[in-house]
Amino acid sequence: MLGYMNAIATRSITRLINGALAIKPLANFAKDRARTMMIKRAETIGVYWLDEVAKLRSRGGDDGFNSLWEKERAEICDRTLTYPDYYHTSFHAYEEGNLGWEAAMEVTVAAKAVHAHLWPEGDALGDIRLRQSYIDVLQEQLPQVPGTIVDLGCSTGLSTHALQETYPTANITGIELSDYFLTVARYQTDQSQEHAITWRHAAAENTGLVDNSVDLVSASLLFHELPTSATVDVIREAHRILRPGGHFTIMDMNPQSEVYAKLPTYVMTLLKSTEPYLDQYFARDLHQALMDAGFSKPGQWINTSRHRVIIAQKPA
Ligand SMILES: C[S@@+](CC[C@H](N)C(=O)[O-])C[C@H]1O[C@@H](n2cnc3c(N)ncnc32)[C@H](O)[C@@H]1O
Repeated sequence: MLGYMNAIATRSITRLINGALAIKPLANFAKDRARTMMIKRAETIGVYWLDEVAKLRSRGGDDGFNSLWEKERAEICDRTLTYPDYYHTSFHAYEEGNLGWEAAMEVTVAAKAVHAHLWPEGDALGDIRLRQSYIDVLQEQLPQVPGTIVDLGCSTGLSTHALQETYPTANITGIELSDYFLTVARYQTDQSQEHAITWRHAAAENTGLVDNSVDLVSASLLFHELPTSATVDVIREAHRILRPGGHFTIMDMNPQSEVYAKLPTYVMTLLKSTEPYLDQYFARDLHQALMDAGFSKPGQWINTSRHRVIIAQKPA
C-alpha cells in the first residue's frame, strides 16, 4: 500500500515539475536560479567560473568575441556538414544547445564544477580525478600503447588532453559536432603548447576517417547525449575505423549506479530536463549494441560512484 502511494506521489511530482518546466517564464526563472547557484558553488571550491569565462570572452580585445573567435570558427568549421536533427535541441539548459558561444565558453568550467562532487574532497581537482580513473582502466586493460587514437565527442578537449598526456607519442584526433566547442578546444591546445592534436568538425557517426586505421576509439561522456538510433550509428562507425584487434572504450554515466536510484524524483526530473536523451540512454543495453555491431563481448569496470568504463575489441 505504501509503495503504491509512493508511486502515485512520485508520478504527481514529476507531472508537476514537467508542467512547470513547460511554462517558459517559470522554466527560465528556475534555470537562472540553478545557474547562479552553480556558479556560486563553483567559485567556493576554486573553480573560478566568472574569471575563466571572462578571459575567454575578452580575448583579442573588445571586438575579439565577434571577430577573432568567429574567424577561427570559420577556419575549423566544415560547411558541408549537416547537423543531425537530434542535435538541434536545448542541452544543459542552453537554449541553443551546443551550437553557441555561451555554452562553448562555459563547458570546461561547468565540467570542473559538476565533477568536483564525485569525490569526497569536493574540490576543483574532481574533473582531473574523473579523467584519471578512466585512464587507469585503459592502462590496466589495453594490451599495447595505442599509436592512433580518436576521441569521439571531444568538446573543448578535456578528454582529448587526458589521452594525449597518457599517450604522448600517439596521433590523436578529436571529433566534435559543435564547431564552437572545437574552436575553444583548438585555442586551449595552442595555449598549452602540447603536441598537435587534429581537431575535426564531424559527426561521430560519420567521421570521414579511413577504414581499419585506428588503434583506440574513445567516447567519454558522449553516449548519454545520443538518442538510440545515433548510438547504433556511432558504434558502427567506431567498428569501421578501428583496425582489427583495436579497442573501443566508453566512459559514461552508469545506469546501474545506486546514486541515480536514490536521487529524489524532482532532482532526476530536473536532470532529465537538461539531458534530452537520458531516458533512452538509461534504457539502452550498450553491451548488446556493441556485440550486434561485431565487437567481441565487452568488459565493464566501475570507475566512480556514478560512472562506468566499457571496453570492446574488434576481433583480430
Ligand atoms: C558531455 S560532452 C563530453 C565531452 C568530452 N568528451 C568529455 O569527456 O568531457 C559530449 C560532447 O559530445 C558532442 N556530441 C554530441 N553528439 C555528437 C555526435 N553525434 N558527433 C560528435 N560529437 C557529438 C557534444 O557536442 C559534446 O561536446
